[in-house]
Amino acid sequence: MNFAYTEEQQLIRETARDYAKRNLLKDVLERDAKAIYPAEHVRNVAELGFFGMMIKPEYGGVNTDNISYVLALEETSKIDSSLAVIMAVHNSLTSYGIQTYGNDAQKQKHLPSLADGSKIGAFLLSEPDAGSDASFQKTTAVDKGDHYLLNGVKNWITSAQSGSIYLVMAQTWPEKGHKGINAFIVEKDTPGISIGPHEDKMGMRSSDTHSVMFNDVVVPKENRIGDDGFGFRFAMKLLEGGRIGIAAQALGIAAGAYELSVKYAKERKAFGTEIINHQAIAFKLADMATEIEAARMMVLKAAWLKDQGKPHGTESAMAKLMATDVAMKTTTEAVQIHGGYGYVKEYHVERLMREAKLTQIYEGTSEIQKLIISRAIAKG
Ligand code: CAA
Repeated sequence: MNFAYTEEQQLIRETARDYAKRNLLKDVLERDAKAIYPAEHVRNVAELGFFGMMIKPEYGGVNTDNISYVLALEETSKIDSSLAVIMAVHNSLTSYGIQTYGNDAQKQKHLPSLADGSKIGAFLLSEPDAGSDASFQKTTAVDKGDHYLLNGVKNWITSAQSGSIYLVMAQTWPEKGHKGINAFIVEKDTPGISIGPHEDKMGMRSSDTHSVMFNDVVVPKENRIGDDGFGFRFAMKLLEGGRIGIAAQALGIAAGAYELSVKYAKERKAFGTEIINHQAIAFKLADMATEIEAARMMVLKAAWLKDQGKPHGTESAMAKLMATDVAMKTTTEAVQIHGGYGYVKEYHVERLMREAKLTQIYEGTSEIQKLIISRAIAKG
């Protein structure tokens, strides 16, 4: 067992950390307050290769390992998890999905512009009545011979407006249940697609989240991914990796709140000494450091398993469950350590607490992770 990062992994972590500290910190509060999409930062980190991490060099990507990917997401999320979720959906879901399950023509057509970040990917699975119960798809994709006709509504879609390459799941054969679901690559400017209003979220306010409506959208047959009926399995396979990304994001939120808390506790004085000298604060920091390290090990293990080509669905669910709970607990304690200062925007920890909450909800709630883990236990 080797816990050391390779030189490349360290370089990627340093690059992400450096970019976040130098550039994201400057405007993260304003973007949070006004819900401004981080367009310039998306362009900049795309130049660093962070939008081509799951794409092979022949299509213009950098194809890093998953350990490097989680390090980049952790460092970005310490300061700006809105940018991190745009990266996560783009890399783990859209890019990885096309790279791994797309055919040659689909890869040639879409991967180069995803790799350089000139097009941003989105993943359209959730619906108003199909969130946790993802197989209950009401969006239909009627087989019309040489094309499919899509109708329905998707919601909670990250990068719905700023993105342009959608992976869309829709039901073709309702009588077959989840085996009738197909997955399609759909370009946002296809006639019949309209975008709902910007969702005014509690946290991660600078990523854009919208509903997407499909009204008689013609999708050529060659846009279907895999065999007829592969769509649900495809979505589940992608979410196994996607959850590692969200776990890394939660880890970064927790680590960011912890670092701010240590700094504050070393500076702030009360009762005649820096508050880090009070056991009430020091023990909180000890718990935070320990729990963050435990979560980090789980996230890295899930990423390592994926890198080895080994099954990682249960471990990614465990990592997400643990890291997102640690993020919620750590950020709440960070606000407590900061006292009144923690409750105002300027000190960042209240924002991190709002962001932590979302990680327990999307790409499967904590309850869904427990369902996945408990089913694996029952199966033996
Ligand atoms: N890999 C491959 N196949 C899988 C699989 C996996 N990980 N998980 C399930 N399957 C297969 C099963 O083997 C089964 O196939 P068979 O019938 O052939 O045996 C089939 O799929 C159905 O499986 P289940 O009976 O387990 O399905 P279910 O209806 O009970 O649902 C679930 C399982 C885990 C609850 C699933 O619905 C789920 O993951 N729900 C949460 C959805 C989710 O995470 N949504 C996030 C949206 S994306 C997002 O948030 C992105 C964003 O913008 C931030």
